[in-house]
Amino acid sequence: MEPTDKGKPETLDELIEILHKIFESDNINVEEVQNIMEAYESKPHEWEKFAKFDPFRYTRNLVDLGNGKFNLMILCWGEGHGSSIHDHTDSHCFMKMLQGQLKETLFNWPDDKSKGDMVQKSQRILQENKVAYINDSIGLHRVENGSHTEGAVSLHLYSPPFNTCQTFDQRTGHKSTVKMTFWSKYGERTPFETTVSQENN
Ligand SMILES: [Fe+2]
Repeated sequence: MEPTDKGKPETLDELIEILHKIFESDNINVEEVQNIMEAYESKPHEWEKFAKFDPFRYTRNLVDLGNGKFNLMILCWGEGHGSSIHDHTDSHCFMKMLQGQLKETLFNWPDDKSKGDMVQKSQRILQENKVAYINDSIGLHRVENGSHTEGAVSLHLYSPPFNTCQTFDQRTGHKSTVKMTFWSKYGERTPFETTVSQENN
């Protein structure tokens, strides 16, 4: 498949349309998805309606259900907000910066013998419009907005979709399964009952 044959998405809606076409196939070319997402230049007026911040923790806001093939969502990270260390439930995870910067720290999976702190593999700062990719064979990660003055907004694609993942205690490597919920769907706040559990990824 030619990475360029679907054109450059000029708007978020065009990007979503192209993603639908790409994910009709069961064989996903990671680089193609990454390139297409990177080619979209973030324009706040196109995604503002999904970008809802919470003062205390980052939010997950559903944008598109991807015909059952993927979930597309916008995550809003207030100053100092971060995720726990987590896996991606055997799915592809693409993360594109729409605004601000996020710090991604990669970890190895803890093995049964290792006691104590989890091993940090690498760390990088994701700049605006850049796309990061991770899956379980690459490892685990933590994502943080280290800024004390600016929020950050990122666009995430998960395929196949999932709604639970595992989080890891950095000190011990102990894992727990958490259910993930949406703060909003299609720009509308989701009812309170569905948003009380811990949010990750
Ligand atoms: Fe993640």
